[in-house]
Amino acid sequence: MTSSDTTLGDYRFFDLKPARRNMHEEIVAGLHAAEKRIAPKYFYDERGSLLFESITELPEYYLTRAEMTVFDRYGEELGAVIDGGTCLVEYGGGSSQKIRKLLETGQPEAYMPVDISKNHLQNNARALHRDFPGLSVYPICADFTQPFELPNVADGCNRVGFFPGSSIGNFDPADAVTFLSNIAANLGSGAQLIIGVDQKKAPEILQAAYDDAQGVTAEFNLNLLKHLNEVLDANFAIDEFSHEAVYNENLGCVQMYLRSRKAQQVSVGTDLVDFARDETIHTENSYKYHLAEFQTLVQAGGFTVKSIWRDERDWFAVVLLEVK
Ligand code: AVI
Repeated sequence: MTSSDTTLGDYRFFDLKPARRNMHEEIVAGLHAAEKRIAPKYFYDERGSLLFESITELPEYYLTRAEMTVFDRYGEELGAVIDGGTCLVEYGGGSSQKIRKLLETGQPEAYMPVDISKNHLQNNARALHRDFPGLSVYPICADFTQPFELPNVADGCNRVGFFPGSSIGNFDPADAVTFLSNIAANLGSGAQLIIGVDQKKAPEILQAAYDDAQGVTAEFNLNLLKHLNEVLDANFAIDEFSHEAVYNENLGCVQMYLRSRKAQQVSVGTDLVDFARDETIHTENSYKYHLAEFQTLVQAGGFTVKSIWRDERDWFAVVLLEVK
């Protein structure tokens, strides 16, 4: 038993009001670029977040299961990292299943999930607070891809960041370095970061993980257009686009696209966007790393590697970093 079993934890929600007002501008600029693109952060409206949860259960999408295996295998070591007097800061508050796994072996004092999707964030945070009443829970609505400051709560605690799921792979390497530098500044000197990373492997395995037989990833990708229809008063005909996922060996990433099935014009608010037949919108890169490459990346981002834990197939790694 620890004090967290008997003392009631605090619950406070912090809305840092991420700058949604730039969304229209950003989307329209991306759709008028020579190679059309939309940033993957726009996948995660409420439906998108739920679809992503379904993806994590697909037979082809091994990433989540492999990472959970690592949490199981090395639970004691991970628990020791987050134990006592720690504030666990999760970048992306949707992985309630993963945080619950860490809480089986470690007992932090506070948990701060940071996410742009307000409802999803609060629903998960409230449920966690209900199930772990001794834990202080401080959900923060913010765009963690931009620099921001953590609120002044749990200030006496050691900070440990948590960025599971190989979400680092959704940044291009140069952006990943910038992101890691922001996180290092956000957490502060001497803080630690537990980060999940998907490793390079056979292209067929990678490609299937992003183009599943049931079509859930296709739905997730296409939901982006639904999201734009709702939020930006756009009129994408969802059936006139198709999902595509390919592994680009040169870049070392799986690339997702939405391909226009015909020549068409789409309005996004008052703006008009022309599509040629077969023209694509690039929606996501998911980089895969050899561990040596990953080590170079995190060092450039201001971290040193303290430990590496892997699943039995050596497909996925959970890496403990320390801010230099
Ligand atoms: C959130 N992120 C780590 C996922 C990935 O594997 O890149 C997003 C995803 N896209 C398609 N399937 C899953």
